[in-house]
Amino acid sequence: MDIIVSGIRSTGNLHLGNYFGAIKNFVKMQHKNHCYFFIADFHSLTTHPTPDDLYEKTKQVLSEYIACGIDPEVATIYLQSDLPEVAELYLLLNMNAYVGELERTTTFKEKVRLQPNNVNAGLLTYPVLMAADIIIHKAVKVPVGKDQEQNLEMTRRFARRFNHMYKVDYFPEPVPYNFGESLIKIPGLDGKGKMGKSEGNGIFLSEDPESISQKVMRAVTDSGPTRNNQEMSEPVKNLFTLMTVVSESGTVEFFRNKYNNCEIRYGEMKQQLVDDIILFTKPFREKILDISSNENYLRKVVREGAEKARESAAKTIRDVRKIIGFKSF
Ligand code: TRP
Repeated sequence: MDIIVSGIRSTGNLHLGNYFGAIKNFVKMQHKNHCYFFIADFHSLTTHPTPDDLYEKTKQVLSEYIACGIDPEVATIYLQSDLPEVAELYLLLNMNAYVGELERTTTFKEKVRLQPNNVNAGLLTYPVLMAADIIIHKAVKVPVGKDQEQNLEMTRRFARRFNHMYKVDYFPEPVPYNFGESLIKIPGLDGKGKMGKSEGNGIFLSEDPESISQKVMRAVTDSGPTRNNQEMSEPVKNLFTLMTVVSESGTVEFFRNKYNNCEIRYGEMKQQLVDDIILFTKPFREKILDISSNENYLRKVVREGAEKARESAAKTIRDVRKIIGFKSF
């Protein structure tokens, strides 16, 4: 059983891309490892320092993850802000993190470009907080996407530096958890690249049928094949990929044959896709609504999660204080 930590952004609802991309794997992973999943609500302040609906957003994300199958009885689910130990480790790690190396991080440079009027110190030390999140549980594996690999590299560096500076072999250096083959990239509806929340090209798990229909019917296609077995354009290939994950294989086959014989009508294919996406997302949507309206249940999940997470975090802080040389009088 490996210790695994993963932080979940608290902004944005989950879309089909998130589900097939990572969450389905999280669900599988939780049974074979000791998993800590937390909602990175401290981190969200680096971009949204005065949130007006932090509670609602957190509740939504939490409900969505549980609806997808992350089981609070199996994995440890908690809020980052419920662990003061993380804030303390972040403070301690900050003393051994250098401004120069932080300024060179790609994610920091990207944020400076995106929010030039709010280049706060939290943004600069984002990778330090992320390192604290991970090593507070002495995690060895972290499931992250490509965009987070550099941050994880920084985590390894901070862990290594801590060990070196205090002449201990305390923190393991966590490696990225690679899902390999099982990672399905879900394309967006705009015919360009993958589904993302900021691109506005995604279908949310909590999306209502009417809105699903509108989005899919508006999806980009092309003018249709003119010869048999013609190579598909990117937007059409994308529709087929989406269909592969939500429809029966016979349905996909049916439309593929139509395409190959130049008999396809995209309107008809889209209508089928609408029906199948609605069918696929319905149970998620219902569960999300059900869970998010059950405040007592969520309170219990969050409390018990924090309790379990703090057990491991408190131990680390005790050790770290001792290693650095803090001693009680
Ligand atoms: N930075 C991650 C993201 O944007 C979220 C995150 C915060 C995280 N702390 C983490 C991910 C610790 C893994 C481990 O997606």
